[in-house]
Amino acid sequence: MTTTMSSTASTFHLQHICLTYPDGESTVTALDNVSLDVHAGELVAVVGESGSGKSTLLSVAAGLTTPDSGTVSTNGTTSVVFQSPNLLDALSVREQLLVTDHIAGRRITAARRRRADELLARVGLAGFGARRVAQLSGGQRQRVNIARALMPEPSLLLADEPTSALDQRLSRQVVDLLRDLTDERSLATVLVTHDRTQLDRADRVMQMHDGRLSQQEWQ
Ligand SMILES: Nc1ncnc2c1ncn2[C@@H]1O[C@H](COP(=O)(O)OP(=O)(O)O)[C@@H](O)[C@H]1O
Ligand SMILES: [Mg+2]
Repeated sequence: MTTTMSSTASTFHLQHICLTYPDGESTVTALDNVSLDVHAGELVAVVGESGSGKSTLLSVAAGLTTPDSGTVSTNGTTSVVFQSPNLLDALSVREQLLVTDHIAGRRITAARRRRADELLARVGLAGFGARRVAQLSGGQRQRVNIARALMPEPSLLLADEPTSALDQRLSRQVVDLLRDLTDERSLATVLVTHDRTQLDRADRVMQMHDGRLSQQEWQ
């Protein structure tokens, strides 16, 4: 596999990705010759039944899993929004956004604090910076999760079923937020979802089936 940084305007590019997992004596083909291009400002939804390879696709796209073959090229930083926010109970909402800087050994400057507060305001959580996670609703936690993902100024945002724990109204708010952020920050966004009512917010819908990715026909 090769990972390259391209100099052209932030397109994300997966080409001919194959990945198999060992499964006892045999193997499971999680990704079967998958190719995907996502442009800046584009939101691509990926649907497909459980076990079809959606999370594996995002993991490869994020560089967390190395495929057996194929090419991944990205322009800029990649952030992942997981299904469960994985927030730390001991930290305040603002600290959730700054903890990665801390772990990476970077000094937390006034500018980074300001950025954290601006992002919290952007996701509708102005004034929540000092709260603990336990004092937030599920929808608010997922907003913190999204704000945290934006801290490194990503150009590629990968969201793996970010609304599966939320009710319809809150899911809609989160997907609307992802749509707006994609537009205003020129993100290349991939949204894996089970919820077909959200697909109208996507520019394209891709279908995953047995590790193969294809354009949804009925759009
Ligand atoms: N770490 C792993 N080891 C072995 N098999 C895995 C692993 N992760 C996923 N798989 C298998 O790969 C296939 C695709 O899984 P996954 O990408 O999680 O699908 P989805 O997110 O669409 O539910 C499934 O058959 C799953 O059981
Ligand atoms: Mg999954």
